[in-house]
Amino acid sequence: MNNALELELQGVSLHLKKNINKEIVARPFVKWAGGKSQLLKDLVLSMPQKFNDYIEPFVGGGALFFHLFSTGRLAGKKAILIDSNNDLINVYKVIKSSKKLKELVLELESDKYENDEDNYYKIRASKPSDSVEAAARILFLNRTCFNGLYRVNSKGQFNTPFGRYKNPRICDKENLEAVNIALKNATLVSGDFEETIEYAESGDFVYFDPPYQPISKTASFTAYTKDAFTSGDQARLSRLFFRLKEKGCHVLLSNSYSEKISVLYGSIDKNIVSVSAKRMINCNAEKRGLVKELLISSYSKG
Ligand SMILES: C[S@@+](CC[C@H](N)C(=O)[O-])C[C@H]1O[C@@H](n2cnc3c(N)ncnc32)[C@H](O)[C@@H]1O
Repeated sequence: MNNALELELQGVSLHLKKNINKEIVARPFVKWAGGKSQLLKDLVLSMPQKFNDYIEPFVGGGALFFHLFSTGRLAGKKAILIDSNNDLINVYKVIKSSKKLKELVLELESDKYENDEDNYYKIRASKPSDSVEAAARILFLNRTCFNGLYRVNSKGQFNTPFGRYKNPRICDKENLEAVNIALKNATLVSGDFEETIEYAESGDFVYFDPPYQPISKTASFTAYTKDAFTSGDQARLSRLFFRLKEKGCHVLLSNSYSEKISVLYGSIDKNIVSVSAKRMINCNAEKRGLVKELLISSYSKG
């Protein structure tokens, strides 16, 4: 074989190797109130070493799910992702379908999604005609609204004002394609967290990240859907936590550093740890910053 051909073949083989070994990194495609990017290190330290399938019943932006996928921790496993925000689950479903994802990218790249104030309010008020348009609307609003905050009023209408960002990235095609791959083994459910019981088996890892129990009137955010998350829901969630523990699931839950939550999980107080996270959602600007949060597990860590 002549030298030039040999070199060329070596180059091709190196290129193939690089592409085969390239890990797919998928990141949350929405900015979401209470997103867990801040707490990832603590969550990973607190999660079980071994588990079967992965279930996340308050998936939101899915920070932990995407982190676990991108670091290979979900290889060969199924994931069940649940959220009661139907608009959000629709975006996940559209991205999971390769055909619809292509349509979504074309839609977002069209000049309909320009970042100006009048256009923002026009799209905010619009009624999408199909699932792809509905997904494009949510992604556009999330990228261009104030603070990237998804918030609805008591009628379930998106009511965050325009964000005035100079050059927001409305269509991150590369990440959407990575998310499409991350969702291949995922079942997407629009519904209440209690649906977990339909899917969870012994040995599965269930991560609960509910809207937090408010610690004060100004430091609360539960407007993800038209139904507020109440103290009754926190109690309902703790009952489910203990049912899943009984069933042999590994359960991890994050919540606010509050008396009410410590009481609900008081019977396993040795499995409660406090961690610090930077939080921006507080009406009172002075109170934004590092806050303590709780991580509660159904198992003890070595
Ligand atoms: C704290 S956020 C989750 C954030 C997420 N871990 C992340 O990394 O972005 C809570 C989520 O719970 C959802 N939610 C609220 N009530 C629910 C319910 N009853 N059942 C299921 N999901 C619910 C909200 O729509 C929201 O997405």
